[in-house]
Amino acid sequence: MLKTHHCGELNTSNLNQNVSLVGWVSKRRNFGSIVFIDLRDREGITQCVFDESISEQIKDVRNEYILQISGEVIQRKDANPKLATGEVEVKVNAFKIINQAELTPLIIQDETDALEDTRLKYRYLDLRRPEMQKKLMQRAKIVRTMRNYLDDNGFIDVETPMLTKSTPEGSREYLVPSRVHAGEFYALAQSPQIFKQLLMISGIERYYQIARCFRDEDLRADRQLDFTQVDIETSFLDEHEFQDLIELMVKDVMKAVLHLEVKTPFLKLSYQDAMDQYGSDKPDNRFGLKLNEVKDIFVETEFPIFQNALGLKDGSIKAIVVNDGAHFTRKEVDALTDVAKKNGTKALVALKYVNAQLEGSAVKFFSDEQCKSLIEQLNLKGQDLVLLTADRWERAASALGAVRLALRDKLNLTSKADFSYLWVVDFPLFEYDDENGRYVAKHHPFTRPKVSSVEELKAHPELAKAHAYDLVLNGFEIAGGSMRIYDQTMQRTMFELIGFTQEQIQERFGFFVDAFKYGTPPHGGIAFGLDRFAMVLTQSDSLRDVIAFPKNASARCPLTDAPSPVEMKQLEELHLLIAKE
Ligand code: AMO
Repeated sequence: MLKTHHCGELNTSNLNQNVSLVGWVSKRRNFGSIVFIDLRDREGITQCVFDESISEQIKDVRNEYILQISGEVIQRKDANPKLATGEVEVKVNAFKIINQAELTPLIIQDETDALEDTRLKYRYLDLRRPEMQKKLMQRAKIVRTMRNYLDDNGFIDVETPMLTKSTPEGSREYLVPSRVHAGEFYALAQSPQIFKQLLMISGIERYYQIARCFRDEDLRADRQLDFTQVDIETSFLDEHEFQDLIELMVKDVMKAVLHLEVKTPFLKLSYQDAMDQYGSDKPDNRFGLKLNEVKDIFVETEFPIFQNALGLKDGSIKAIVVNDGAHFTRKEVDALTDVAKKNGTKALVALKYVNAQLEGSAVKFFSDEQCKSLIEQLNLKGQDLVLLTADRWERAASALGAVRLALRDKLNLTSKADFSYLWVVDFPLFEYDDENGRYVAKHHPFTRPKVSSVEELKAHPELAKAHAYDLVLNGFEIAGGSMRIYDQTMQRTMFELIGFTQEQIQERFGFFVDAFKYGTPPHGGIAFGLDRFAMVLTQSDSLRDVIAFPKNASARCPLTDAPSPVEMKQLEELHLLIAKE
């Protein structure tokens, strides 16, 4: 037997026992002829003592060597309260070097100052760090809990293809050339959306899958090219029954992973309210700084920024109040202005309320009455800072929403250890795509409209709301889903409204629309972004911290160096030629 215990296991109940451990040398300290070695495996660290009878033999042993040791568990003179095994140590009487190790390019400990690309290049070493191991274990526990819950509630785990037909879900797809069919391509699944709906038509009734998804997107801290969804679909449940079921699963996860009780039902906010109050369709509601609509005060205004906004179709003036923020410096306000500008609006108007008066370059354009109304409506108390955006409604709100988040970070208004769930519901069915002059589905074109008839939808598509819902945790959209269209005419209408011709519908979705003819149950579902969920629950800053082998910010894998050029012969087999730049 190579080992009797793991390195995080021994305590005073094991005193005087003879044990064997195997692990990596985490640290060595020499005290004259006595040597202390911290032996580490995935479960923890145990201090091992090599006295003068044996220490000479380990003089060449360095960090990250793998040792097997045998010895007696003894009481430690100065206990280390930081270690689970800190009250004991093992007095080694025999050992074996299982393998040697060169000096590692990064230090294997929780705190690291290694550059991210170094961590990713030597990811197998980075993952040896206890903090990273803990994150992977927590991620596995999240999946296990979700699986158990779904299995216990009658869901069937079904796999669907990764190599599939191109479907329009908004992002760009990865194409895979077919060797057998020259000039034809598979697409890597962006999600199992169509297949899970087909499974409902098959009568599976409750489906789930831990599904890899592929999207050729620009990377952000909360996006990867290949990521994992816990994908779920059910038949015969309405939106509320379905959301209740999902909340109970989340409750189980919080209990299993973080030992926290979360209260259900979760808060539900309409898209309109989320944008109005928080300037985001994935609001972080762990702190205040809510947005206020103040356009009514400025219906008659000389101030050009407000005037321009109110001349727009759905012009809006949004304000937030930073209590005691009047001390913000010019530089601090400029930094917030940059945030507003990066998020789509032209200006951030800053006013200070000091000595019972509004100050700021915009104030000269305001009447006394307007100043008074603003002070009253915003309930200004003194030493406050007021920040305003003026633009089309969505832009004014989302730019100020971004400023709100910048203030959260600047003023440390939240703790990563607080968790706040909410649903955002009642999304508009369509978004107008200014660039292409047409409607696009806000979620995807299979989302059921909240209308009573096809005629109603055709008459006013811009007014239609969707049976769609996003689950938001601490300002991250961790899951999104909807009730689906199950009527063939409605599905065709939907495709038509987003600009597909009959030929395009037939060519791209013929198989799907056909399937609707044979008895389609009412159905709906959701997909969790597992990586995002794990990122928030493990209090990580990036998805990369909860994915074993992620891509870096420039969409490369520094470990394997993918993507990389391929042999001419491979290209020929795939009937491909690379165009010269
Ligand atoms: P959606 O596109 O909203 O819905 O995706 C569901 C969830 O997946 C996560 N997610 C991502 N995570 C990491 N990297 C990415 N690039 C990425 N893109 C999305 C998010 C998101 O909430 N088929 C529908 C679901 C449904 O309607 O049932 C879908 O894929 O957390």
